[in-house]
Amino acid sequence: MKSKVRVALVGLGRMGRIHAGTLAARCRSAELAVVADADPRMAAAAGAEFDVPWTADVDEVLADDTVEAVAVATPTATHGELAVRAARAGKHVFCEKPIALDRPGTVRTIDAVTAAGVKLQVGFHRRHDPDWVAATRRIHAGEMGTPYLFRTSLRDMKPPPAEFLAGSGGFFVDVTIHDLDTARWMIGEIVEVSSYGTAIADPAIRAIGDIDTALVVLRFESGALGVIDNSRAAGYGYECSTEVMGELATTRIDRPQHRHYLWLTPEGASFGINRDFEERYPLAYAEEMEAFARCVRDDTMPPVTGLDALAAFDLATAADLSWRTGRAVPVVPERRDGGVVYAFEGQDR
Ligand SMILES: NC(=O)c1ccc[n+]([C@@H]2O[C@H](COP(=O)([O-])OP(=O)(O)OC[C@H]3O[C@@H](n4cnc5c(N)ncnc54)[C@H](O)[C@@H]3O)[C@@H](O)[C@H]2O)c1
Repeated sequence: MKSKVRVALVGLGRMGRIHAGTLAARCRSAELAVVADADPRMAAAAGAEFDVPWTADVDEVLADDTVEAVAVATPTATHGELAVRAARAGKHVFCEKPIALDRPGTVRTIDAVTAAGVKLQVGFHRRHDPDWVAATRRIHAGEMGTPYLFRTSLRDMKPPPAEFLAGSGGFFVDVTIHDLDTARWMIGEIVEVSSYGTAIADPAIRAIGDIDTALVVLRFESGALGVIDNSRAAGYGYECSTEVMGELATTRIDRPQHRHYLWLTPEGASFGINRDFEERYPLAYAEEMEAFARCVRDDTMPPVTGLDALAAFDLATAADLSWRTGRAVPVVPERRDGGVVYAFEGQDR
């Protein structure tokens, strides 16, 4: 049996702790080697919880020859620099979405990691969730015939902390980017993006010029249509659901229950609803890290590449432009180097 890939986890906030838990206990092909966070209290707490060495100095991680890969789960503005430093130190890189806050930073990071000759996988976890994977395989195998309509919802129960929001890159780049990646993966490339946004739920979000509720309408190259609805403040719980209606079949992916038991009384039946992505996606996050470790071990292409992340970033910025200008944004998918990038008028290249 091949040894496990030793992964260092950098950034131990909401997302980093999930990845740390996954690497420590739920991966066949990876193990948690060390945890790091700029805040030594976060690093020490995670080190104790997962029983691994910890540090507040990323250089220590990069100098450790036993570390083969680095998973970056720090705030988005810091991803690019950390990913590039890790790659130049010879470490394979898993990077949370999005790669950077702007397009030049995203491209620079992809180019630098590619030049270093290491793997780069990006954190679009729905690509690894067993429900989405099964449905998408059947669509791609032709069992649905022609897909006509794609619909997906991604709604957070409550907004993240103000500090996170300020550095998130804005609603479309932080939230909708997941759905845009899912849309491309399940249905195919996109030729037009129209979006609508409002800051209605949280005055703090309005105060920073961002939005908390959005609708995005997509036209696919195939002629199919798509609609995405997103919220930062759904209140009732965390919802992530997708439906694809097609010629021969329709698929609905939904699993709002946190636990799979019903509570029955004369007044009716109830079940607990997922409150956040951690409750909804334990399998997806585990499979995501497993896939990363396997591509490192087997020297294969990561299942979600830097170019996939760039395509989703381009579509998110097209959605942002559509919201700001109030017009539909035609986008042109350009095929290159085994991936697709998008061009549109007004794009910050
Ligand atoms: N895929 C998903 O489901 C998902 C969900 C949530 C967040 N994310 C992404 O994960 C990233 C982190 O989000 P979060 O909500 O966990 O943030 P967070 O603010 O909760 O945590 C970030 C952590 O990184 C640490 N940090 C900051 N700068 C650092 C640096 N230079 N070096 C080392 N540590 C540093 C902070 O001290 C903090 O502990 C974001 O890019 C976000 O988009 C992805």
